[in-house]
Parts: sequence; C-alpha cells; structure tokens
Amino acid sequence: MSLRLKFILTMAPLISLIVGLLFFGIYQQSRQAILKQVDVQAISLLQQVIITRAWIADHGGIFVKERPGIVANPFLPKTVIEDRQGKNYFFRNPAMVTREMSHYAEEKGLYKFRLTSLKLKNPANKPTPFERQALIRFQEQGFVKSRQGLSEQSFQDGEPIYQRIVPLEVKLSCLECHGDQGYEMGEVRGALNMIIPMTETIESLQRNKTILVWAALAIVGVVISALYFLVHRLVLRPVKHLHRVAERYTACEYSDQASLATGDELQDLGMALNEMTERLQRGYKGALRSLTAAVDARDPYTKGHTDRVSRYAVAIACELGFDGKILDDIELAAILHDVGKIGISDEILKKCDTLTSSERQAMDAHVSKGGAIIRESDFLKGALPGVLHHHERFDGCGYPNGLHGEELPVVARILAVADTFDAMTSDRPYRQGLTTKEAADEIIRNKGSQFDPMVVEAFLRAWQNNFQIRREMGENDTLAK
Ligand SMILES: [Fe+2]
Repeated sequence: MSLRLKFILTMAPLISLIVGLLFFGIYQQSRQAILKQVDVQAISLLQQVIITRAWIADHGGIFVKERPGIVANPFLPKTVIEDRQGKNYFFRNPAMVTREMSHYAEEKGLYKFRLTSLKLKNPANKPTPFERQALIRFQEQGFVKSRQGLSEQSFQDGEPIYQRIVPLEVKLSCLECHGDQGYEMGEVRGALNMIIPMTETIESLQRNKTILVWAALAIVGVVISALYFLVHRLVLRPVKHLHRVAERYTACEYSDQASLATGDELQDLGMALNEMTERLQRGYKGALRSLTAAVDARDPYTKGHTDRVSRYAVAIACELGFDGKILDDIELAAILHDVGKIGISDEILKKCDTLTSSERQAMDAHVSKGGAIIRESDFLKGALPGVLHHHERFDGCGYPNGLHGEELPVVARILAVADTFDAMTSDRPYRQGLTTKEAADEIIRNKGSQFDPMVVEAFLRAWQNNFQIRREMGENDTLAK
C-alpha cells in the first residue's frame, strides 16, 4: 500500500471523527442554549401571569364594563352589577382573567397558558396527560418542593411545543371561590402551564445543523487537503525522489544522485545514500582496477596502460558532451577493455617478435574473453560494447565483427582512439614510443579509416587540453526547500 493511500485511509477517518465530534458538541451546546432560553422565557411569562393573578386576587377580583364579547362569568353566578346609568359590570376572578389573557396571546400566535386542576370547576381546564402527571407529583411533593415545576418538549396538534408547568398554591383569596372544594391554605390546588410553540425554533435549529454539517465537511476537506499537501511536499515527494534514485542505482545507473535540499532527516538520508553508493562504486572500481592492474603487471611495458586509456577516453567523451551513465560506461569500459588478456598466455602476451597467425588469433580473442568475463555482471554490462568492439575500425576492417561507421558503439569508437594513442606513445621492448605529437598526427592520418572523424576531433581538443577532464554539470533533480 502506498504512503499516499495509507495517509488518506488513516487521516481522513481520524480528522472526520474529530471534526464530527467537535461540531456535534457545538450543535448540542447551541441546542441546549436555545432550549434554555425558551425555558427562561417560559418561566418569565409564568411569573408575569402569576404576578397579574396575585394583583387581581389581592384586590378581590375586578369588574369589567359590558362590551361586545364581554360576558358574565358562568361559573360565578350573581356577580354582575349595574350602575345608575344601567350599564353592567362583570366580575372577573384570577382564573377567568388568566384564561382570557391566554386567548389574547394565542390569537397573536405567540404562546398560550392555561390553568388546570385535578378538581375541576371549569371542564375546559381538564388536564392533559403531561399536566395530570405534573399535578400528581406536585401534590405528592407539596408546593415548596415542587415550585420549580416540570417541563417537556412534545407535540400538540402535530406542532412541536415546549411547556413548563408550575404549581399554584391555595391562598386566602382562593377560598372565596374554591372553598367548597375542600382546599386548605398552602396546598397545591392546581397548576399553570405555559405552552410555547417551537416550530420556528426547531426550524432554526435545523438550519443551524445544516450549516454546521457543511462547515464540518468544508473544514475536513480543507484540513485533509492542507495536510496532504504538507505530507506530499515534506515526505512523499522527497521519498519518491529517493526511490527513483535507488531504482537507478539498482539498474547500475549512478549518474544521478539524491539531491534533496529539504534540510531535514530525508536530506540526511539522501546524503547517506549518495555516500554509500559512492563508496560502493569506489570499492567496485578499485577491485576492477586491481584486476586490470594484475593484467597490466604481466607486461611491465604496459604498466599504467589502463589508467591512461581511462583518462584519455573520459576526456574525449567529455569533449563530445557526454555525461551521466554513458560517461560511467565509457570509464568502466576503459578500465576493463583488456581484461580478457588475463586469459592470454605469457608467451603470446610478452612476445617481442611478430605474432604468428594462430598467435594473433589467440591475442585477438582477448576481446571475446573479456566480454565473457563481464557479460554476467549487471554492474559491468555497461562496459560490454566497449570491451567487445574496441579493436573494430571505422571502415569495418577491425575485429571481432567488422562493424563500421555508426554500427560501432560510440564507446568503442572512443576507446579505439584512446587505446591506440596510449599504445603508440608507450615504449615497447622492440621500439621507442612516439611523441604525443607524432601519435596525434598518426591518428589524424587514420581519421575516417580506422577512427571516427568526430571522435578524432574531440581527441585533438582533449589532447590540446592535456586531457583535462572538462565534465559538464548534469542537470540533477533538485528539490528546493
Ligand atoms: Fe585490447
């Protein structure tokens, strides 16, 4: 499973859970605050009604002037008085005022309140199940313990409501009307229930919930995106770069190095990877040089040949603009180009006289022997074209395959010039080595026949620069901070 997928599968549920719980808590808090506000409103209204009732009771009730819609109290007979002008005044006790005020409030669509009792005088005050339950509890607990009342959220006629009911205490003024019901002072004789419509409040809560859900989704999206961006930039991208470099190392391509500039542990890891690879390469090339030095040592007159050919070949390749893996292959091929001579007998290898045809055949076989030695190694396979074909000629008259022109691997064309130049400038038991000028002239003479003209031109530039390695900087991937 990729790091990207692991991150998404881990962080997405975790962040969703955290944000979900957070917003659920916010929603519950706001819901409770709104409900608390409704409750405070209900209590305030109840207090107002109770104060109004107390004022009426303390003043022995009130009389209201006869008007359209103003009728006598049917439960209080003989309470109508008439003034000298013949106008009627109807008595209103607290209960009737309470009921008429409730009608006013309900008509305006605000709220309503009602008296209720277990001992009914007015059938309209018959308790609902909630009110009955509350009245029973109030009577069991007494007025003092139950004065806070009870509340609930429920539905009435399909509409959501909030209701708070508080007990009413029997006072002296109450006994005037209710004395015949057996009440005593201080008892609970009924209750006042405040009913507040909750439709708008519930709709508001629902809107809040929708807004919170969208806000939570947006926050989850933004947070995950931001985290993913950071993880991608700080971890995934550098790790991908290291993985790509490691894959190239695995494929024996050492031209690209880890080039992280993240300033953290991943940069240290990249540097450690580079250091490890360079040490491995140095160790590998050192072992190869030891092997080829052993070949060179068999003939004292070729001592150092491999190192010089390697230097010339790399300098020519740099003049041709090669870098990266092909430059590594050229250097490796130069180091190994004559490794096959390990399988050539000393009699042939060190013979000063002209070789016989069979001896020449045996000597020429060093390229195929060298190819056989390195063919099985992934690390060395880049050197194979150079090792096999460094004695080919540009005109097709070389060996072992008689390749010519562009058929020849460029590595082999470079090695042919470098190898020949060193051979001509080295002393042999049977001849003095040429000067570099003489050797260069000889190479120029064979331009287009033995040697690739393009390589000869590069060789001349390298020779004039004393074979200094003028390697162009490759474009490494660089990850800025
Ligand atoms: Fe050779």
